Amino acid sequence: MKPVHFNIRSFIYILLAISFLSACSNKEITGKSGPKIIDSLMAKMTIEEKIGQMTLFTSGWDVTGPVLRDTYREDIINGKCGNIFNAHTVAYNTELQRIAVEESRLGIPLLFGYDVIHGYKTIFPVPIGEACSWDTVLIEKSARLAAKEAAAAGLNWTFNPMVDISRDPRWGRVSEGSGEDTYLSIIARLKVRGTQNGDLSDPFTLAACVKHFAAYGAPQAGRDYATVDMSMRVFREIYLPPYIAAIDAGAATVMTSFNELFGVPATASYFLLTEVLRNELNFKGVIVTDYTSINELVPHGVAKDEKEAAELALKAGVDMDMQGAVYYNYLKELVDSGKVDLELINQSVRRVLQLKYDLGLFKDPYLYLDAMREKEVVLSEEMMAHSLEAAQKSIVLLENKVGKTGKLLPLDISKYKKITVLGPLADNKLDILGSWMAAGDQSNSVSLSEGLKRKFPDKNIQSMEGVGFMSEDRSAFPGSLALAKSSDLIILALGEDYTMSGEAASRTELDLPGIQSEFANLILDSGKPVIVIIFAGRPLTISDLSQKADALIYAWQPGTRTGDALADILSGDFNPSAKLAITFPYNVGQIPIYYSMKNTGRPYLEEEKYTSKYLDSPNEPLYPFGYGLGYSDFEYSPIVINKSLISEKDTLIAKVIIKNTGKYAGEEVVQLYIRDMVGSLTRPLKELKGFSKIYLKPGESKEVVFNITVSDLKFLGQDMKYIYEPGDFMLFIGRSSMDTSEAEFRLKNKK
Ligand code: GLC
Repeated sequence: MKPVHFNIRSFIYILLAISFLSACSNKEITGKSGPKIIDSLMAKMTIEEKIGQMTLFTSGWDVTGPVLRDTYREDIINGKCGNIFNAHTVAYNTELQRIAVEESRLGIPLLFGYDVIHGYKTIFPVPIGEACSWDTVLIEKSARLAAKEAAAAGLNWTFNPMVDISRDPRWGRVSEGSGEDTYLSIIARLKVRGTQNGDLSDPFTLAACVKHFAAYGAPQAGRDYATVDMSMRVFREIYLPPYIAAIDAGAATVMTSFNELFGVPATASYFLLTEVLRNELNFKGVIVTDYTSINELVPHGVAKDEKEAAELALKAGVDMDMQGAVYYNYLKELVDSGKVDLELINQSVRRVLQLKYDLGLFKDPYLYLDAMREKEVVLSEEMMAHSLEAAQKSIVLLENKVGKTGKLLPLDISKYKKITVLGPLADNKLDILGSWMAAGDQSNSVSLSEGLKRKFPDKNIQSMEGVGFMSEDRSAFPGSLALAKSSDLIILALGEDYTMSGEAASRTELDLPGIQSEFANLILDSGKPVIVIIFAGRPLTISDLSQKADALIYAWQPGTRTGDALADILSGDFNPSAKLAITFPYNVGQIPIYYSMKNTGRPYLEEEKYTSKYLDSPNEPLYPFGYGLGYSDFEYSPIVINKSLISEKDTLIAKVIIKNTGKYAGEEVVQLYIRDMVGSLTRPLKELKGFSKIYLKPGESKEVVFNITVSDLKFLGQDMKYIYEPGDFMLFIGRSSMDTSEAEFRLKNKK
């Protein structure tokens, strides 16, 4: 039952809308510039009401629950605020929507936006972790379920997907993206498709918002909000494709980034917002700023004051001002003084009204506000089951060494009577949710130790923190060591808390925070079998641990079902299959380090001094892009190609046979890379051009086939147009970017 307010006004409003819509056939309600209802509203709106549709203000949350500033409440009533973010739950949003629909002059419904980045209430793994699943079905389903749960809680817009490519783990927001690789831009498309599901008026979906446009993931020195400076070639070839993928998938909105690019802050960049976004990519949706990023044009030094900032943003193409109140304060004055054309405002208002129309809000402003549905959907079994699967598939097994008694994992639990879990993440239920945990709360999450106790109810499982995230307190070291020595197996649960990655969380050192490494060495030297599990929102520099740990697992921040997923992996009930979507450096000094680097004119030669290298570090990463272990043993046959000389019309077919020679059924991500040996421009050593995730039972074999055409060989030529060139190529197929077999082929000269 929808909460219907028998207030005569809304009743008339709904009658009017229904009679209006039923009176016209589809084609009639869509006039030249959109639905007639928009035309009729535009004709009635005052300039203040128009600017209100371009204004987005935040709700707040106190311990007492949601709070909205009184001034914002007033603004909704007087039509000066048409959009709210960070407001959720049906009860609260219904109240706000009622005010807008029943108490404002024109009754235009509100948009309700929120950062549903990896789950709303049921939290899934942080996006960098989920990207390591390489599981396209899973990733789309996560977006779909997150949207379903959030929509059931009264939201209709999410500020997701974040698609900023990043090759710099000093930048804390690598946790929100899908890693370093451009080919994995397909993830952006999957997330938009999952979020919007092809029908914005479906009350189980949300409007997506692809962010942060553009190239926010490449701040100098990895420092958040810092200058981004790159060549147009690198921008178009590496950083732009994921935004294109999201827009081509129909993303309803785009968010401008805080950073400057090509010397202009994105929020004031006519080149980015109009020439690229509108004209080149044909984006017709709403462009919203990031939080107060119009105001920030003043400290950026491109506007002398906020009034000028408003003018710059509007002329660049910004439709909606998030939280800055700059449009709210200055746009009318700018129109009255002739500084900006009212038509620019009309265009933006139409886009916002069109979005509300597409969401079905004009037909029924309470479409997303159904308390019964909220009860059924939020934290449902469907959500909790998916949170488990997503966590299982995102957790990366980095080491599983053959020790005195064979490999530690999967555990032969019969060997162990007493298991000790030590570290700040042993009993943790909060930080495992990651930096954008939305409405998630620890009361629903499962800690590592809880998961182990559920899995092994008859085992003696002890846990203690032993060391804090950042504290220098060693007082619990002796007790921890004593407990460890009294155990048969130790699990170290170490890493970052949720504030150490995400926004405004750049780090210059990527070691385990605080004195956790010291603690780890103390326990590792106990002589007991030790499994190390790292929880973080970014790659950390863990070369010592990778040497000393018998087994090393990178859990990222797995979300609500953390403990169950890890217990399934440790027990062997789930065979880990994740592969890194971002390179793990040995040390910070190597950054930026990524798999698709170029050869240089002096590639490293051990015996040659004057070659590209460090005196104090290897060139190679600690763990490469695409790397991850499992419990199965997958054997790759040599690559077979159908021809080694192709014309531009040919398809090169490359085949490998993968056999599971181990005793565990499992999944393998078979990766295809290509190298253009000689080009009119330098070309990367490898570029990911395809992958296939396959499942094999013990002893089973499968043929994996990759079809390669000239479109896989394209790159931006001297004239910045995509071209392919004849010549020699290498193709690589393997289990990571550094563990491949290869085959050569040549592309014939064009006729
Ligand atoms: C933040 C983030 C952005 C988020 C927005 C609203 O500053 O940069 O990703 O969507 O504000 O919370």
